[in-house]
Amino acid sequence: MNNLRVSENPVADLASQLEIAAREAIKARGNFSLVLSGGSTPRALYELLATPDWKSRFEWEKCDIFFGDERAVAPDDALSNFKMASDALLSRVAARVHRMEGERIDLESAARDYETKLRALGSPLDLILLGLGDDGHTASLFPYSPQLNEVEGWVTATPVAPMEPRVRRLTLSFPAINAARKVWFLASGAGKAERVAEVLDGPRDVQSLPSQGVAPRNGELVWFLDEEAARDISR
Ligand code: 6PG
Repeated sequence: MNNLRVSENPVADLASQLEIAAREAIKARGNFSLVLSGGSTPRALYELLATPDWKSRFEWEKCDIFFGDERAVAPDDALSNFKMASDALLSRVAARVHRMEGERIDLESAARDYETKLRALGSPLDLILLGLGDDGHTASLFPYSPQLNEVEGWVTATPVAPMEPRVRRLTLSFPAINAARKVWFLASGAGKAERVAEVLDGPRDVQSLPSQGVAPRNGELVWFLDEEAARDISR
């Protein structure tokens, strides 16, 4: 069951829910494992969390930050999801940051090492943030890509992406995403409306709409949307 949270400001709404989720995880298990998404939409969220008012609401020293995907670029490259999140938030808080090493020549080895790190947690990831690509992808799980058929591995290296930036990627797989306790999508703007409606209301076809493959086995799935992005869905 998809939970929809439609609001004027989905970034502020998600931040409020994130504060609750972090507090609950730390109370229950002593830490909070959070997977950040890339792209442009979440930048506003990360910048909000870095403001003095919001930053003080989290016990960052008890947070482990991971990434849902990364481009095959250096960590200081403007295309890096790590750089975007670091500039907006991570360089300003005392969280433990575990970046995907997209700069490595042997991306398959980088994927294996990241998977080892995730499995060493010994517990499901608490919360994974995801975005929705214009083609229906999420993380770097692109339509009709071999990564969609991964059933065991948690992290894979992709071929050159079929959309900008056209570089190889590292990405979490569906088995990794769907093992999480919570998975939250954040999408905003009229440009997302048609795809949001296809993913949520349309016929199921994970190959053409990979975001439909996100279905946490024992966890919750929530979509944080603004009115524009939610315009075409049946509510
Ligand atoms: C990436 C992201 C990707 C993103 C979507 C939406 O590396 O690009 O992980 O999955 O979430 O493409 O991107 P926007 O937020 O820029 O629309």
